[in-house]
Amino acid sequence: MKKVNYRNLPSQLSLLLLALLLTFSINLNAQDTSAVADAEAIADVAPADAGGDIAAGEQLFNANCASCHKLDKKSTGPALRGVASKHDREWLYKWISNSTELIASGDSKAVQLFEDNNRSVMTPFPALSNTDIDNILAYTSQPKPEPTVAQLPTNGGGEGDSGVSNNLILGVLALVFLMLVIMLFLVTKTLRRIAEANGVEYPKSEKHTPLWKAFAENQFMVLVTSIFLLLVAGYFMYGYFMQVGVDQGYAPVQPIHFSHKIHAGDNQIDCNYCHSSARKSKTSGIPSLNVCMNCHKNISEYAGDVNPEEGYTIDFYNAEIKKLYAAVGWDEATQTYTGEEKPVEWVRIHNLPDFAYFNHSQHVSVAGIECQKCHGPVEEMEIVGQFAPLTMGWCINCHRETNVNIAGNEYYEKIHEELSKKYGVDQLTIAQMGGLECGKCHY
Ligand code: HEC
Ligand code: HEC
Ligand code: HEC
Ligand code: HEC
Ligand code: HEC
Ligand code: HEC
Repeated sequence: MKKVNYRNLPSQLSLLLLALLLTFSINLNAQDTSAVADAEAIADVAPADAGGDIAAGEQLFNANCASCHKLDKKSTGPALRGVASKHDREWLYKWISNSTELIASGDSKAVQLFEDNNRSVMTPFPALSNTDIDNILAYTSQPKPEPTVAQLPTNGGGEGDSGVSNNLILGVLALVFLMLVIMLFLVTKTLRRIAEANGVEYPKSEKHTPLWKAFAENQFMVLVTSIFLLLVAGYFMYGYFMQVGVDQGYAPVQPIHFSHKIHAGDNQIDCNYCHSSARKSKTSGIPSLNVCMNCHKNISEYAGDVNPEEGYTIDFYNAEIKKLYAAVGWDEATQTYTGEEKPVEWVRIHNLPDFAYFNHSQHVSVAGIECQKCHGPVEEMEIVGQFAPLTMGWCINCHRETNVNIAGNEYYEKIHEELSKKYGVDQLTIAQMGGLECGKCHY
């Protein structure tokens, strides 16, 4: 009765397979529904209405107050979450429409507040109606959102899910493949048994000399293979030695994790704001920390997109901003400089050897080349790396291919007239202008 067993095996296996697939798909669905449930849970936590339009309040707050106030942290002014329950409404109307007047009137609460905050003056807002103020206070009265829950929708749970399900699909596919192999093996085995039982003759494999022995005895084959191996080795050695001293892709860890993607990409800060000397001088330079503080006096917390899979969480980014504060000696609590500075030692990435001369302003301002042409899509880089090889061949290639930009440059117009006659062309390349002369790039 063995035969019967074997004949049933394939169908038994496929049943098992089906069952497995079903369990996996149920798991996947279960994940989806739990995500939906989470989202609903968030909606449930919606804040209690404190007698005002929260959305309108948020807009007013961001437009008028956010430059000095944060909800949960001291900035120029105190944190404002829950301030509505701290003072009575009438007092708040007066304070917000003109705090200076209230202080001058001798109101003890107002004077105390003023003294407690280094006597900084709050802007008067006579234009805000009481309803506006009610709206703002409704916004500041919202309960603090739970950080873990709040992050769920922003970091696009979809990404995580698709990662998991991709792995699952791969796993299932591998399993299916393995089962197919086993099934095939069993089928041949069964067929052979049947054939044997029925007395059918089939050719059996005969004994050959092993392949390696045949190969080793054939001198021609050995010669051809050796030559082939030598050529491959030579090719890779050449590639390896040409790489020596070329640091393409070099992206060191910096003392402060400064993301160009967040600054130049998400927030569209112009390269020239920080690398201002690129247009005017030989070097591009790295901005001093004072430049950072133009913005970071007020940006002490990160609230943009995160990528927890790579370890880039809100906490990570906030800790990096703290490093900036430590380096410039900025005390957040008092909003003053302590005077204790320790300069940040940025690791230099692009570095030509001393014997080569490269000038940024000539390329950026005179020739009008985009930074990205040589540095790649920096605005997409979380960590900057060297994009171009910076070899002599790289410089020369571009000088051969690029035409001189003569528009609006009297000096070039003259030279261009003479040289274009000499070469008999309409457009001169940098090479024809002398961009290949050793002395131009070598001291
Ligand atoms: C120019 C900065 C600045 C702006 C803009 C500003 N404030 Fe203030 N605010 C302060 C300062 C500073 C204090 C602390 C009191 C002082 O020093 O006068 C304060 C105090 C307050 C207080 C009292 C806080 C407490 O803990 O008792 C409230 C309420 C307040 N501000 C509301 C607002 C609202 C609402 C807006 C926007 C319509 C606003 N502020 C805009 C600087 C500002
Ligand atoms: C907010 C300031 C800021 C802006 C805007 C900015 N950078 Fe930077 N950049 C820096 C800082 C700080 C460093 C040094 C730290 C590092 O390498 O990440 C740097 C490093 C670099 C480097 C590597 C320097 C080296 O060591 O070789 C390049 C290239 C660069 N930036 C290009 C750009 C380009 C192109 C843009 C515009 C798309 C840009 N940067 C926008 C601040 C800025
Ligand atoms: C023109 C304004 C501006 C300047 C100048 C600026 N930043 Fe930022 N920075 C931002 C903004 C906007 C964010 C993102 C805040 C958010 O999304 O909540 C940010 C975020 C950050 C973060 C957290 C994200 C990250 O990149 O790791 C760090 C750290 C940081 N900045 C450091 C610096 C340093 C160091 C400098 C000076 C070289 C600098 N910033 C200059 C505006 C600026
Ligand atoms: C024609 C190619 C080219 C262009 C265009 C270019 N760079 Fe560079 N950049 C280089 C080279 C080459 C170096 C290395 C220079 C060295 O080591 O002397 C460099 C170095 C840098 C550095 C490191 C610090 C320094 O000055 O050596 C920064 C930052 C930088 N570039 C930013 C920029 C920015 C911002 C722009 C656009 C405004 C830009 N670059 C445009 C080729 C270029
Ligand atoms: C993306 C193209 C490009 C790359 C890459 C490039 N250059 Fe240039 N280079 C130019 C252009 C365009 C000019 C012409 C500027 C002008 O009009 O004066 C130029 C001009 C020069 C000049 C002045 C030539 C003269 O005749 O006065 C020097 C020197 C120079 N480049 C050096 C370098 C070096 C060194 C590198 C490599 C590290 C390099 N360049 C990479 C495009 C490039
Ligand atoms: C457009 C600019 C440019 C011109 C023109 C140029 N070089 Fe170079 N050269 C470079 C740069 C940049 C390097 C550094 C390359 C590196 O670090 O890999 C270099 C490197 C070298 C080296 C060191 C070997 C190496 O590859 O690192 C020698 C030798 C050299 N150049 C000779 C010459 C001679 C001779 C000429 C004239 C025929 C010349 N160069 C013209 C930019 C130039």
